[in-house]
Amino acid sequence: MNARVDIQTEFVDPDDLDNNRTANPHFHDVLDAGMQRRGLLRGGVAGALGAIFAPVALTACGGGDDDVVVSAPPPPPAAPAPTILGFSAVAKTNADRNTVPAGYTARVLFALGDPMAAGVPAFKNDGTDTNYDQRCGDNHDGIQYFGLNAAGARDDNSNSRALLAMNHEYINQTFLHVNGPSARPRPASETDIEVACHGVSVVEVAKGSNGQFAYVQASPFNRRITGTTEIELSGPARGNAQFITRFSPDGTKTRGTMNNCGNGKTPWGTLLTTEENWSGYYFRAAGDQARRTAKENASFARYGRNVTATTAANSRYGWETSGADDKYVRFNTSVVGTSTNGSDDYRNEWFCQGFMVEIDPYNATSVVKKRTGLGRFAHENGAFGLPVVGKPLAVYMGCDSQNEYVYKWVSTAVWAAADATRTDRMAVGDKYLDDGKLYVARFNEDGTGQWVELNIANASIAGAAFGFSNQAEIYIHTRIAADAVGATRMDRPEWVDVHPTTGEIYVTMTNNSSRRVVPTGTQTRVDAANPRAYADVRGAVTTQNGNVNGHIVRFKDAAPESTSFTWDVYLFGAEASANPQLINLSGLTEDQDFSSPDGLAFTKSTGLCWIQTDDGAFTDVTNCMLLAAVPGVVGDGAAMTLNYGGGNTVTTRMGRKPTATTLKRFYVGPFDCEVTGLCETPDGRTMFINIQHPGEDTAVANLADPTRYTSQWPANEGYGAGRRPRSATVVITKNDGGQVGFG
Ligand code: FEO
Ligand code: CA
Ligand code: CA
Ligand code: CA
Repeated sequence: MNARVDIQTEFVDPDDLDNNRTANPHFHDVLDAGMQRRGLLRGGVAGALGAIFAPVALTACGGGDDDVVVSAPPPPPAAPAPTILGFSAVAKTNADRNTVPAGYTARVLFALGDPMAAGVPAFKNDGTDTNYDQRCGDNHDGIQYFGLNAAGARDDNSNSRALLAMNHEYINQTFLHVNGPSARPRPASETDIEVACHGVSVVEVAKGSNGQFAYVQASPFNRRITGTTEIELSGPARGNAQFITRFSPDGTKTRGTMNNCGNGKTPWGTLLTTEENWSGYYFRAAGDQARRTAKENASFARYGRNVTATTAANSRYGWETSGADDKYVRFNTSVVGTSTNGSDDYRNEWFCQGFMVEIDPYNATSVVKKRTGLGRFAHENGAFGLPVVGKPLAVYMGCDSQNEYVYKWVSTAVWAAADATRTDRMAVGDKYLDDGKLYVARFNEDGTGQWVELNIANASIAGAAFGFSNQAEIYIHTRIAADAVGATRMDRPEWVDVHPTTGEIYVTMTNNSSRRVVPTGTQTRVDAANPRAYADVRGAVTTQNGNVNGHIVRFKDAAPESTSFTWDVYLFGAEASANPQLINLSGLTEDQDFSSPDGLAFTKSTGLCWIQTDDGAFTDVTNCMLLAAVPGVVGDGAAMTLNYGGGNTVTTRMGRKPTATTLKRFYVGPFDCEVTGLCETPDGRTMFINIQHPGEDTAVANLADPTRYTSQWPANEGYGAGRRPRSATVVITKNDGGQVGFG
């Protein structure tokens, strides 16, 4: 989601804003250290190891018996090798459609409201549709591909039949109701629609006789997980007193997963989805602070639900106002009952959200589990390090709010190859995701970093003012524990992914409007890993400040359990015309410039890195986009000092700048959208991406006149009824059947 924090709008999502009031490493500390170490700064790390790789499919050698000699006929002339990023870059555009390079085709596959069970009526797309728990949800986000064979069994090599598991992050209220959303108290019928439009879809897709993928409406695999689905609380915080509700007096289960943003795929074939901006879904009454413990109040404040004697924390959609039914009341996370433990109300419901959630897509009736050990924060996504037999598994995660942190989970169990194909997949999840250690990252000025374990034995945590009394509290109030150990405040960590051969970890830092060279108040000073703060004009009137265009940090762990790493900045987003010394540090050209990187995924078939944007700064020039990249390795660039004048400098670690052949804009989405989520068939010949919230800035007052919608996509490309814009999954193929991203 786009946090337009510099623009005054009717509703600003508070979840993306800075709730981090700690004083973790600031530039003045770094500057002092830098003065002492200036003589040590090196002009780049030796060994620019070019990440030159060939697509696996093209280099695989057959086995063959070496001692068999045959006189083979001369080989036929080799076909010209496909060129990496051989396509022509797509120009920036504000066109309301899919724009792909020449030789490629983009088609809509699965959009908001599409029926997902037999007998569900076709989507009318006029605000009268109901039963969204049997329809595709809204605001598509992360997406993963789970192959199926012809018999309907898991097949990781299938290119023609699969389950797509995708998130529905939030909703565009305007288009879900005939005349837009009603005022509070919200009608129950509207709330039912909105809650059901959240969560996750698992949907079968298969290639038809025309060779094109279509989704299967009546597939028995199809499943909707929504804001009301029963979910088990698993892992080390299971049963904690903080999880006790009227629904679950023993604190072992809850309902719903919401604001699912990015996601990941486990090495054993399940989905790991996330809960990002969940906090704002809950109402907390004025005066509630007087009925809570000091710890609870500190946690509410740190996660954006602070109240005073006279000020309530209002909920995002007002679902708690829809009546006395338990399913609405639970969105009021205030003390309203008389129990001492919360077993007669939903004061603790808010504590049951904010986790990583595991789903087995191959079993439509499987239990869904929240993996509490991976911490509670604004989870963007989760990416596994490359599994190594006999070593622990690592999961890398970002907390997407301004000035928040990067985390790592390391399993206690070591990886056993046989676990990759077990059929009791959720039990495998229990093994690797319910027992382990949680770490947070500190990025040092010299290009090194530390993983600091969030353990109650750490004196900084044990001695924190919060008063942590046991390890389980660290998994529930994770941000506060991370504050205590001096984690580095980052520019909104979004997607993480791991390079399929080098194992290096890439994290997008989408932007940060509170980053400053000379901060005041709650702003955060530039530092080595977040070195930019500047002003950018959007259109003719709006000036945005801070790290406006975002960047991508990458780091290298020597092993999954390493407690130190090396890092650099792979790319800085910028407009091509921006100042090369302070803004366009990566030297982006017109074919490459982008703003606010959010989605990031490697395609395993080709090793390409795909970068997606969710932007509110460059959208006066271009809609959000997808770029393809051939990345290098950590340390392939040089140290660079930014001189802001007035004695203010900061030295960062630059990756090698991209060239015209290592970074290209591949796709631009329809108007007013975010481009997010990416997966592929194993052969790399079909790519799936998600388009979120086209037309989101359409005013309710314009609902009756489709010509005044800011987008009419995908109807304007021939998909579906009505003209209201819809989030959708898009399939991209190369017209000659080749691998996507090659020439
Ligand atoms: Fe849901 Fe952080 O974007
Ligand atoms: Ca975003
Ligand atoms: Ca601009
Ligand atoms: Ca995102």
